[in-house]
Amino acid sequence: MTIPNLTLNDGTTIPQLGFGVFQVPPAETAETVTKALEIGYRHIDTAQMYQNEKGVGEAIAASDIPRDELFVTSKLSNRYHEPDDARRAFDQTLTDLGLDRIDLFLIHWPLPTLYGGDFVSTWKTLTEFVGDGRARSVGVSNFQPAHLTRVIDETGVIPAVNQIEVHPFFTNEAARTASHDHNVLVEAYSPIAQGKVLSEKELTAIGGNYGKSPAQVTLRWHIERGDIVFPKSTNADRMRENFEIFDFSLTPDEVAAISSLNQGEAGRLGPNPDVFAWVPR
Ligand SMILES: NC(=O)c1ccc[n+]([C@@H]2O[C@H](COP(=O)([O-])OP(=O)(O)OC[C@H]3O[C@@H](n4cnc5c(N)ncnc54)[C@H](OP(=O)(O)O)[C@@H]3O)[C@@H](O)[C@H]2O)c1
Repeated sequence: MTIPNLTLNDGTTIPQLGFGVFQVPPAETAETVTKALEIGYRHIDTAQMYQNEKGVGEAIAASDIPRDELFVTSKLSNRYHEPDDARRAFDQTLTDLGLDRIDLFLIHWPLPTLYGGDFVSTWKTLTEFVGDGRARSVGVSNFQPAHLTRVIDETGVIPAVNQIEVHPFFTNEAARTASHDHNVLVEAYSPIAQGKVLSEKELTAIGGNYGKSPAQVTLRWHIERGDIVFPKSTNADRMRENFEIFDFSLTPDEVAAISSLNQGEAGRLGPNPDVFAWVPR
């Protein structure tokens, strides 16, 4: 399977399919990521708050894949939005991953009700890491339209991506459209709705046309809509299944039928970024 590369607004490229490690236990992360690399994944999405960057780093160190064939993303902890904290936390991410440069580093959540609502200073701090060559690209996650407009208006620097919750039950159109309006690619997280797509009859029916599972049909839907995805699995068979989505395509009617499963806010699984204010201890 050849994974398409997409070009970000800063000119760098990113594999459209990757592997996410949210909720992969730290002690199992190296083994899990090693399996994913063996299957062919070359893009890994982790975060400081997942507490498993070291495991990702161990798997990378143990593999013989050239560094320039890998794409590694991490994200700033909600605890470290103050600029000096963000600088220290970024140093720690590079240490834990065992890398001297990361491909993509994101503000994990905007936290508009914390830090005096000043996610702009946090964003400016992340841009320093591109300036000093330690991040190829920087971006944001969970940014609502107003958050995105604000960082762009106040700094003139456009995030490379906006990583937001998107799946058939929550298509998150407002944040997705705002991202596209600013030429920001969307990374669709929880792409198979944390497994909830599996019992959806419409997806099973469409999959029947191609011999594909609801998870594969859903991942293909994301790919055809131009978003970046990184499903999580700790099971090698399911990792392989999620990888095998480039040997079929959906009709425009099928894409539209999947999009019509959208339930709006009722379909959202994660917290609402406008009010989310959790900080790890
Ligand atoms: N920026 C953010 O705030 C944020 C928030 C959430 C997620 N993310 C990122 O997005 C990634 C993916 O999202 P996610 O982990 O929330 O959810 P997801 O990828 O939509 O779903 C993962 C769940 O589905 C199961 N699964 C995976 N493939 C399957 C298949 N083919 N058939 C049946 N079940 C399957 C997994 O179980 P098994 O492991 O048992 O297979 C797991 O329970 C995360 O790992 C993380 O990198 C980012």
